[in-house]
Amino acid sequence: MARYSHIVGWGMYVPERVVTNDDLAKIVDTSDEWIRTRTGIRERHIVDKPNESTSTLAVRAARAALDKAGLPPSALDMIIVATSSPDHLFPATACIVQDALGATRAGAYDLSAACSGFVYGMAMAHGLIVSGQADTVMVIGAETLSRLVDWSDRNTCVLFGDGAGAIIMQAREEPGGFLASVLGADGSGANLLTLPAGGSKLPASVETVRNGDHYIKMDGRAVFRFATRVMAEATREVVEKAGLTLDDVELIIPHQANTRIIDSSVIKQLKFPKERVFVNLDRYGNTSTASIPIALTEAVEQGRLNPGDHVVFVGFGAGLTWAAALIQWGMPAPPLPTWKRWWYRFWYPWSRLLSAYRRLRRRVFAAWLGTKERSQEELESLRERTRRGTEDRS
Ligand code: UT7
Repeated sequence: MARYSHIVGWGMYVPERVVTNDDLAKIVDTSDEWIRTRTGIRERHIVDKPNESTSTLAVRAARAALDKAGLPPSALDMIIVATSSPDHLFPATACIVQDALGATRAGAYDLSAACSGFVYGMAMAHGLIVSGQADTVMVIGAETLSRLVDWSDRNTCVLFGDGAGAIIMQAREEPGGFLASVLGADGSGANLLTLPAGGSKLPASVETVRNGDHYIKMDGRAVFRFATRVMAEATREVVEKAGLTLDDVELIIPHQANTRIIDSSVIKQLKFPKERVFVNLDRYGNTSTASIPIALTEAVEQGRLNPGDHVVFVGFGAGLTWAAALIQWGMPAPPLPTWKRWWYRFWYPWSRLLSAYRRLRRRVFAAWLGTKERSQEELESLRERTRRGTEDRS
């Protein structure tokens, strides 16, 4: 029996606080006119509460996607979070999301391919599904890049926004769904868009903080040139790989970085009709991995996709990386019965309670075990250390 992977759920979430170009003009030497004409961005959403982070945005988008699919979190076999601004270097943000959803059957990992990460994640999900390793996979793109930009650097702080988008991909027997993908990388351009410090190469120190090495650094012009080339090439390639032509594609959803990049790549180079390219970056800015799933959610809600339509997702980003995927849109899931909606609503507080119980149990167990072990092994090692210390001194 052939297996196909279809998108069966989608959802998005952006933080409440809106920052306009005029707001930014108050903190750096820029203007609404410059930002609009050079990027197409008018405003972006930014986290402004201390308890908001990439995982909290991801969880809100994930719940919306589960609602849309009519699935409980326990249906998920895998959660992939594509992000460049994870909650921590480790554990994976995906594990925090898995716990918050109460997706107790799911594996979870983060994927780092910058703005191309969401499409990379879709390709990984497709691989897991068609190989039979998973039936239902959630792919999330989530970012709080506002926590990583230097708010005094006008070259970068005007570009990015925070947000999250999620989809659920599921095994189906009907042909369609994920048809082809193109994934690429060119690490020789790694220095063009980077966050230099905080990893093993340049660990955090007073010096790195003083130099601002924990902020995003970018050679905007070089990234621009790269983006306009690869977006067109990757789109052309993925359409050919699926055995289609550009005329068969009803909608292109490009990574929402800059309207000039979208204009000069898919629209001018491919001569693709502008009205069949989805753009919403004017309201969100560049939300990196979240930009494509946020755009997809809005496209579906605006009725821009019908069953049977072919849609191309195409992105580029730090690495350098690029990625494109071609999907044949399927039938929407029937709306959830009310009792199921209520049951799922009840599930989240219940799973939070279970998670708190597991934490408590672990703590009690560790405290109990800790005292027992200390009384035997630690005493022995303490004796050994004291003996060695005495010998060294004598
Ligand atoms: O997801 C991937 C993330 N990265 C990207 O997508 C970035 C891709 N690159 C771009 O989108 C564009 O290169 C930018 C929007 C970043 C910059 O646009 P540009 O047309 O390439 O401008 P530029 O870097 O060539 O700068 C032109 C001028 C410079 O002044 P001088 O040297 O000509 O006097 C900049 O200093 O604009 C100046 N400038 C600004 N002026 C007002 C740069 N940023 C700003 C600003 N406001 N925010």
